[in-house]
Amino acid sequence: MTQKIWIDEEEREMAEELAIHTNKMDALATLANGIAHDFNNILSGIVGYSEVALSMAEKEKPVANILERILDACERAKTLIDPILAFSRQNWQAGDEEPMQIAPVIREVIELLKASLPANIKIKENIICDKGIIFASKAMIHKAVMNLCTNAIQAMKDKGGTLAIELKNVEVDQASAISDNITTGSYIMLSVSDTGPGIPQNIMKRIFDPYFTTKGNGEGTGLGLSVVYGVIKNNKGSVKVKSIPGTKTTFEILLPQIEITGLS
Ligand SMILES: Nc1ncnc2c1ncn2[C@@H]1O[C@H](COP(=O)(O)OP(=O)(O)O)[C@@H](O)[C@H]1O
Ligand SMILES: [Mg+2]
Repeated sequence: MTQKIWIDEEEREMAEELAIHTNKMDALATLANGIAHDFNNILSGIVGYSEVALSMAEKEKPVANILERILDACERAKTLIDPILAFSRQNWQAGDEEPMQIAPVIREVIELLKASLPANIKIKENIICDKGIIFASKAMIHKAVMNLCTNAIQAMKDKGGTLAIELKNVEVDQASAISDNITTGSYIMLSVSDTGPGIPQNIMKRIFDPYFTTKGNGEGTGLGLSVVYGVIKNNKGSVKVKSIPGTKTTFEILLPQIEITGLS
């Protein structure tokens, strides 16, 4: 009986924490979306006028060169906005969503990582759901997985360790659906683990915030996990992180499977 009360209380606290965290992420997303939207509008003006000026400056080589540089800078600024939009816009779509298998994307990421993997880090892969299909953008899933693996590798770069990538089918029942804020049904679970230093409890609540980073200049932008969060949420999935300081960190992602009829 005492045990039951304790579990109820713990569950209530977890649900409350999840609600507070979801509210905070929503508020951040609204703010980020507003800024990204205004910024995009201003940028469109700069690009438009620069293009007009460039066409008028055909014979003025030095002026044309400067205008081309302005346009290059605008292009770079635009690529900065994309991750913010991926995080902040509810139901943001990359535009190339399609029924896709996640396993080949994971294999591609692993191949890419192997090309520049430090010698003290090993990759262990366990992909046991070749058939599962989700409806998502390959490019965005690729980016999300890449961001998780990059963090894992960066976490282990000093002492080395093992990056474990696992993919499997899971059924989400009523209880886990409530605690993960998703619906019941068939999901694909991707887990990315590392044997690095772990994530200190006091920063755990902030790791998904845009621009939150503990890395030095040039190493991290603080956008990796916020993009992961945005991509997975927009695909009706969930992200969970478990970390044991000094031992390991595991990110667990659930993505809903879709049924494709007529395929054998
Ligand atoms: N696997 C990991 N191990 C330890 N800390 C991590 C891990 N993944 C993320 N973090 C922490 O979360 C922060 C935010 O991650 P991220 O959004 O990818 O930004 P960035 O990698 O640019 O710092 C990191 O700076 C780091 O402190
Ligand atoms: Mg990162």
